[in-house]
Amino acid sequence: NENIQLGQAMQAALQEANTALHTWLEHYRPYTSNGRCAAYIPALANADPSQLGVTIIGSDGKLAQSGDCEALFTLQSVSKVIGFIAACVEHGAAYVLERVDVEPTGDAFNSIVRLEVHKPGKPFNPMINAGAITVSSLLGGKSPQQKIDSILAFIEKMVGRRVGINEEVYQSEWQTADRNRSLAYYLKGTGFLESSVEQALEVYLKECSIEVHTQDIAMIGLVLAHDGYHPFRKEQLFPKEVAKLAKALMVTCGMYNASGKFAAFIGVPAKSGVSGGIMAAVPTHASAPDSPFPAGCGIGIYGPAIDEYGNSVAGGMLLKHIAKEWDFNIF
Ligand code: DON
Repeated sequence: NENIQLGQAMQAALQEANTALHTWLEHYRPYTSNGRCAAYIPALANADPSQLGVTIIGSDGKLAQSGDCEALFTLQSVSKVIGFIAACVEHGAAYVLERVDVEPTGDAFNSIVRLEVHKPGKPFNPMINAGAITVSSLLGGKSPQQKIDSILAFIEKMVGRRVGINEEVYQSEWQTADRNRSLAYYLKGTGFLESSVEQALEVYLKECSIEVHTQDIAMIGLVLAHDGYHPFRKEQLFPKEVAKLAKALMVTCGMYNASGKFAAFIGVPAKSGVSGGIMAAVPTHASAPDSPFPAGCGIGIYGPAIDEYGNSVAGGMLLKHIAKEWDFNIF
């Protein structure tokens, strides 16, 4: 019967995709030695630099995984996308964009220089620390705990499980946050922060310390690929316009000051974090009909050895290879 044949064909295609993914992943794993785990947050330095894992979730629920796909890591800057979306849902995008712009900087993610050089000091975009700290002060809820709870609930809706905060990483970040603290004080001084410095930092750093695995961020990537619609829950979780903004920010600013190269040579909206995570969203219209994910997918990658920009070395190479082989480039 036709259905059984179709099912078998899908099964075979999935197996083929998994085999290919596994070959590519092990090919790029040795390149992890070209990077180092982030050390400026002491708890991140403990990660095993040789780890590399990937999860891809297709719009039809097809799941391909390989390597250290179940390893836990903290969101770090991947959380900046989530915080931005949550703040837009809370206040409307226009309100948020009055406090943070959508321009790439070409500077390091923790740079302070433009806040003074460009008056009135509006952070350039929500994907750098200055912008994300500002966004943290806008999240729904009165106390930092309420704001974090609203983020955790939002993530739960997208990924289908309750995630938590890695306390060790949070404490480690809090104790070494001098740079973020100075950004926050500056933003308070220029009037862009809507809460106290301490509260904005607590929310921002807790958000960075949310612990996930590759499947979680692949699922968030998939919801973004569908413009805020959850294809399995069959529910619009946030407005399409907000998803479009978030993806444009991922393309232009998501990979720090290597975003131009990522757009040019990989061409998939993606956001990285210094813990080695990369979240990517492949829209339905970008995937080739003969790829194993013809109707778009979400991709989650973890490889804690990062380069000088803060992006996973082997993770970026793997994403480039996947995007090329399966025609995921949106351009
Ligand atoms: O604030 C920090 O430096 C880290 N919690 C996050 C850094 C990161 O992943 C890069 N940010 N764009």
